[in-house]
Amino acid sequence: MAFSGLFLDELIRRNDIVDVVSQYVRLVKKSGNNLFGLCPFHSEKTPSFSVNTERQIYHCFGCGAGGGVINFIMEIENLTFADAVHFLARRVGMTVPDEAVSPEVRSRRARLLNLNRDAARFFYEALKSPDGAAAREYLARRGISPEVTTRFGLGYAPDSWSALCDAMIKSGYTARDLFEAGLVRRSGRASGGFYDTFRGRLMFPVIDVRGNVVGFSGRLLGDGEPKYLNSPDTPVFKKSMQLFGLNLAKKTKSGTILLVEGNIDVVKLHQAGFDGAVASLGTALTEEQVQLLKRYTKNVVIAYDNDAAGVKAAERALSLMENSDLRVRVLRLKGAKDPDEFIDKFGRDAFANLLDSVENHVEYRITTLLAQHTLETDEGRLAFLKAATEMLSRVSNAVEREIYAKRVAEISGVSADAVLTEVKKALRARMKANARRQEARERNVRAAIQPKSREIRYTNEISALAEEGVIRLLVLDCELFKVLEEYDFSESEFTSDYLRRIYDMIKLRYEENMEISPPLIANALDGAEAAHFTKFISKPESLSNAEAAMRDYIKKIRAAKAAAQATEDPEAALLRIVRDKSGCGGYEHGT
Ligand code: GTP
Ligand code: MN
Repeated sequence: MAFSGLFLDELIRRNDIVDVVSQYVRLVKKSGNNLFGLCPFHSEKTPSFSVNTERQIYHCFGCGAGGGVINFIMEIENLTFADAVHFLARRVGMTVPDEAVSPEVRSRRARLLNLNRDAARFFYEALKSPDGAAAREYLARRGISPEVTTRFGLGYAPDSWSALCDAMIKSGYTARDLFEAGLVRRSGRASGGFYDTFRGRLMFPVIDVRGNVVGFSGRLLGDGEPKYLNSPDTPVFKKSMQLFGLNLAKKTKSGTILLVEGNIDVVKLHQAGFDGAVASLGTALTEEQVQLLKRYTKNVVIAYDNDAAGVKAAERALSLMENSDLRVRVLRLKGAKDPDEFIDKFGRDAFANLLDSVENHVEYRITTLLAQHTLETDEGRLAFLKAATEMLSRVSNAVEREIYAKRVAEISGVSADAVLTEVKKALRARMKANARRQEARERNVRAAIQPKSREIRYTNEISALAEEGVIRLLVLDCELFKVLEEYDFSESEFTSDYLRRIYDMIKLRYEENMEISPPLIANALDGAEAAHFTKFISKPESLSNAEAAMRDYIKKIRAAKAAAQATEDPEAALLRIVRDKSGCGGYEHGT
């Protein structure tokens, strides 16, 4: 969802950053326009988190976090851009305008959603028709009941090149509609024809939490490749933001969402009464999907396939959810490859028992480590302890860390204190390694910016980078001198003498109406200088938005100067550039 700039400006104006941040951080110690406090995004003992009252931004000199009031709420409340906007609007009693998207975009989306719904109906009818006999047999063979088929709106895409396309065109849709919805593909032939995307497949409509059919997932009735075909991303469908089955699962009374891999697993679990089952659409779980889950549950149970890929995917999903204050547990399937097969083989009660005994994420990892190590030998015990303390040092909750350190101690027959000491050691080692990595990253950035030759070394890399940009733009289009004039930009603002010389050269040629071209300038420079010039002049730069880009460079040069003079540590400024957070300007974010 896009919000109007006007609305966002008002929202930001009414949510003073100091007021907002003060609800989470005790801000004290004033220096100029800056308030300081302990950073809420990393643990520290001395305040390095600053809020600038004038510029309405925050910045942590320790961890580099920074942005405007919307970024702050996104980070601290773990919200998407759109949700953070709603949060702040509620805070000051503003209503979020629902004309957030343009009327054209809205009617286009509505048309695609209607088309998807009609296509789902078409597939559903096809499943009931004589054409659908094979698909009905397949469903029966997979043990999927007619009742649950209807509940999910499953359907059948006839094995034809144009059955859907013909039917939808007859209902008044255009080929362009169908193409945009991903329901047809362009045929290679010169005639410019189209053919149905889904043919001879069992169709699973993907329905969002509002009940819109946003896309489809189609499974072959037999073996073959690809087994599943999903709708491509369209204006109404982003695979990474949807979970198959969530439209039903969000209403579960169990309080738990069951995250599984396959569409069939979802359907079979719902049929067996586990109505919290959802699946990501054949991709690894994403941050957006975690955010979506958080809106509907506090408990997640991962029940991925019982194979190497499933274990790996579970591990990834775990680490993604670990810091999200969701209670995440992992189910271990025994004797079956996935929940669908497990229920077929052992019945729903066995699955319910499994769910009752499900381990939380730390327990899950301890069990995994136990399976990997033998405790019979001293070496094995030592290896287990090492891996377990390493794992525990990653557990962010201190209470959990302590509880499971005791458990690990009991298992391996050493004292709890010894384990805790080791955990702390591992924790410190990792923090040190992180700091070292961060330093190395900064060094690399500096090195990448710096000219190779010592003679033209930059004293202020951040400013020099923007100065290079000014020159690049001027070489592309010398009319941009007008922007510099408009901003009263003076050549004395260059921090690099070398770059100032190049600038002077260009300016002289501009004033004398002479040609400005890179080779001409390069020829007037000596070897090392020319080498660096050709390097930075060939970086990509677009003229489509050149005036804005020029203004941006000027602002960066001035900000770098201000930073160098003020309290801001250049290291931190550099860090900010490295991370390139865009402050509160990121209006196009969001869902
Ligand atoms: P079966 O039990 O074999 O019928 O399938 P399933 O529904 O259990 O799915 P499976 O565990 O094989 O795969 C998990 C998910 O990955 C599926 O639901 C699909 O979303 C996705 N997937 C599987 N195969 C493919 C494929 O060939 N292409 C794409 N794009 N996705 C696939
Ligand atoms: Mn399966």
